[in-house]
Amino acid sequence: RKIFVLNGPNLNLLGTREPEIYGYDTLDDIAERMEDAANRAHVALEFLQSNHEGHLVDWLHEAQAQGAHAVILNAAALTHTSVALHDAIKAITVPVIEVHLSNPHKREPFRHKSYVGMAAKGTIAGFGALSYSLALEAALEL
Ligand code: DQA
Repeated sequence: RKIFVLNGPNLNLLGTREPEIYGYDTLDDIAERMEDAANRAHVALEFLQSNHEGHLVDWLHEAQAQGAHAVILNAAALTHTSVALHDAIKAITVPVIEVHLSNPHKREPFRHKSYVGMAAKGTIAGFGALSYSLALEAALEL
């Protein structure tokens, strides 16, 4: 079994980017923790980050092509703007779990709408880096 973990714009800066909101863990820290958990569960992880919308669309297609078990997606700011990601999630049969470090509903109104959430299987948000671990736990149960 293989699970894709896809990360969108600016998440490469985790650790130094507004740490009071997103925490001090880097994306590598998160990837490492998830790799450990995935190994224990005998699943392979494809952990990827891009600042470019089209890469994320391509990776959603790739997850489908490879018959992935699930996709965990933090689309970051694209969450709130991307009809292309919404359509890509709808275009594949692989279940997509939306994750966020912060709770967008507690933040600015422009973060309250999620094009990803409207197409995803479910959403985990607001638990910092733990959101990713919880999403993996959910993905393993699917
Ligand atoms: C985020 C929330 C988004 O609103 C924001 O644009 C991000 C990160 C989160 O994980 O909390 O870049 O997806």
